[in-house]
Amino acid sequence: MTSTTVPSRTRRASSIQVRRQSFDFATTPKYYFNNNPLLSYLLTALSLTFPHGERFFVHSVRNVRNQIKDDNLQKEVSAFIGQEAMHSHAHEDFNSFVEGLGIDIQPILQSEYEKIEYAKTKLNQKQQLAVTCALEHFTAIIAQYLLEHPDFHRQLNPRVAKLWMWHALEETEHKAVAFDVYQEIFADQATRKRIMRIITTTFLSRISYLTFKLLLNDPVGRKQWRQHITAFKQLKEVFTALAPAYLDYYQDNFHPNQHDSTQITAQWREQLFGEPINKEVASTAIH
Ligand SMILES: [Fe+2]
Ligand SMILES: [Fe+2]
Repeated sequence: MTSTTVPSRTRRASSIQVRRQSFDFATTPKYYFNNNPLLSYLLTALSLTFPHGERFFVHSVRNVRNQIKDDNLQKEVSAFIGQEAMHSHAHEDFNSFVEGLGIDIQPILQSEYEKIEYAKTKLNQKQQLAVTCALEHFTAIIAQYLLEHPDFHRQLNPRVAKLWMWHALEETEHKAVAFDVYQEIFADQATRKRIMRIITTTFLSRISYLTFKLLLNDPVGRKQWRQHITAFKQLKEVFTALAPAYLDYYQDNFHPNQHDSTQITAQWREQLFGEPINKEVASTAIH
């Protein structure tokens, strides 16, 4: 696939901000998602994959950074690296809270680390960046769902919500950065889509495995069948809602910004950080 297939893209003219955050998870309940064990463990499973996973995202972009000619994209890469570094640290704190609940997370973290190190030895730079683009698409569509569905995110304990909504906002803000780097340097849509098919299977099976491992190791949580039924109903709703956005990735001319998140991110910047909506810089189309 040649660069002529690369879609026009829109990018915020203002730079993406890196925000240092601190969190206190003291007194947070074990089942922090509406007292639901399965959904709480699902989010915990995601959190356990984040520190090593997000370091890999940064690694895959840094691999090729010296080939980026677009100055604006270089600035966004710096912000992307800064945001992901903050997320890794914050989720390490969250994972320490999980460990404090008596859950043995170290074997899971070690396994995540080993899988990623193995992938680095087997995949070339283009494939590694395509993995990042695929996982950034997953995080972007899940994040936008969280931001746009108060009926869902209000079920989170407020201490945990602060972490997840900050992370969701910033994932949405930088959703196009790794993708734009991939398009500027490789623009190979066949590889991008092939890697997405592989990542879909590995990511969903890994998160499901970790969720059920955590649940089955909890003698109290695993017996809460009514809560499990509620969880499956909610997950079905989420998957159904996300399917079209997920499938858009397989278009040859897909770009993350075709899922407009300008308004919702502006609203959340104001809500979380008091950044006024009227200072929002209008999107600028570039080709
Ligand atoms: Fe992140
Ligand atoms: Fe990200």
